[in-house]
Amino acid sequence: MKRGTFLKTLGFGTVSTLAGGAILSSCMNHDMATMTPTVAPDVLEGNFTTSLPFPETSLTGTALNAGSQNITTITGKNTQAWGYKNGILGPTFRIQSGSTVSIPFTNGLTEETNIHWHGLLVPAAMDGHPDQMVMPGKTFNYSFKIDQRAGLSWYHPHPHEKTGKQVFMGLAGLFIIESAEEKALNLPTGAYELPLVIQDKRLNTSGEIDYSPTMDEVMIGYMGETIIVNGVQSPFHNVATRTYRLRVLNGSNGRIYNLALSNGNAFTVIGSDGGLLPAPETVTDLLLAPGERVDLLVDFSKSALNSEVYLLSNVFSGVNSQGRQAFKIVKFVVNKAETDSFKLPTSLPAIAPISSSATTKTRTFDIGVGMGTSGGHGGSMAMKGMHTINGKVYSGERIDESVPLNSTEIWEFNNSAGDEPHPMHLHGTFFQVVSRTGGRSRLIASEKGLKDTVLVMPGEKVRIIIKFTNAGKFVFHCHNLEHEDDGMMLNFEVK
Ligand code: C2O
Ligand code: CU
Ligand code: CU
Repeated sequence: MKRGTFLKTLGFGTVSTLAGGAILSSCMNHDMATMTPTVAPDVLEGNFTTSLPFPETSLTGTALNAGSQNITTITGKNTQAWGYKNGILGPTFRIQSGSTVSIPFTNGLTEETNIHWHGLLVPAAMDGHPDQMVMPGKTFNYSFKIDQRAGLSWYHPHPHEKTGKQVFMGLAGLFIIESAEEKALNLPTGAYELPLVIQDKRLNTSGEIDYSPTMDEVMIGYMGETIIVNGVQSPFHNVATRTYRLRVLNGSNGRIYNLALSNGNAFTVIGSDGGLLPAPETVTDLLLAPGERVDLLVDFSKSALNSEVYLLSNVFSGVNSQGRQAFKIVKFVVNKAETDSFKLPTSLPAIAPISSSATTKTRTFDIGVGMGTSGGHGGSMAMKGMHTINGKVYSGERIDESVPLNSTEIWEFNNSAGDEPHPMHLHGTFFQVVSRTGGRSRLIASEKGLKDTVLVMPGEKVRIIIKFTNAGKFVFHCHNLEHEDDGMMLNFEVK
């Protein structure tokens, strides 16, 4: 979508004849200040009659091919989606920490794409930086050694200005790392471990996925009315009266979910982006922003046989555009009596806190809507994007932050003046969340482990601490994919 089109929508008329970026910038600032994001479209719940599918599992590297796929899964109608193998999404990799994987990737689309391994600590050359495109018809071999804790990561395309569209069309998949350390905990596994990719889709009248953001939808993120899990709308899954491990990814472009159970029961958060938390925490609801993952234990022995329990998104506050509506995501039918001897270990593998006394630098980033508030971008700034980091929009030509290898830094994301949520994500590293001031003023359960994405709500300032041990050029950005595509992304180089 072209900026000129946006301006016309706003009633700017013949903006293309305006030469002065400064003039344009100031009048747009004025307009932006009075523009309230609209409420996200209502969710349409289905009947929860389709059985929940699981993407095929790959225990080693397997070839991926981005392409258009005929699927019947979303509404029961025949439609086209994008995927990496068979159908929408891609296989779930399940790989032992310590092993090397090789994944030949072919771009079967008619536009450039690539793969970013979100949450995998891979070398910069394998990270799927927006510089590293695979052209249509070409193949690139992603190969790397997995050398990190067990946890749930994922993969998706990362072409600048097209990530939102490509993910929305269906390109994404899970990457589970296993380890002996985690295995020793005897967490629920096999049929009792459920990987769940939660996304929203907008479908046109013929049931096809429709990605066509309006001006407002670039502002707030593109939100579909149809909630899908593992590619299927409103699915159900039969469970037994015992504890299940739910491994959940929010793979949506812009929608935040406030996960809860329909019976109001508590559930236990045992992990997040970077694997297990140092201590489990029991909650009754949990916010999950785009790009984030959580590892949950749900005890269905607390539910009567033949009862139904929905995983919901509950209402939440603090955002203009979403959270006002509760809706169902997936139905669990408790239809089998089983006893289970599972007991959660009282201690989980420790995570050494990164000591702030080792910090050599604090960087602050004002995030949100702003037009050319910092110098160096001139008139082109105003035409480029409205979502900025320190007043800048993405440029592939520029290194925005230079970070010494092995240094420890505090980064602060300041959304004090903003009115939109921004899930901020760093490539190439995990971090720990130090503090949140303003807004919710506290860390939630899933933020007490290793993170790669952290939600910064309007009015909030979030500080994270990072030890940069992975050399190279990486991006950090808002994981609301419309914000990212609008330019809310910068480069940092570790060397
Ligand atoms: Cu999942 Cu750069 O992102
Ligand atoms: Cu990433
Ligand atoms: Cu954002």
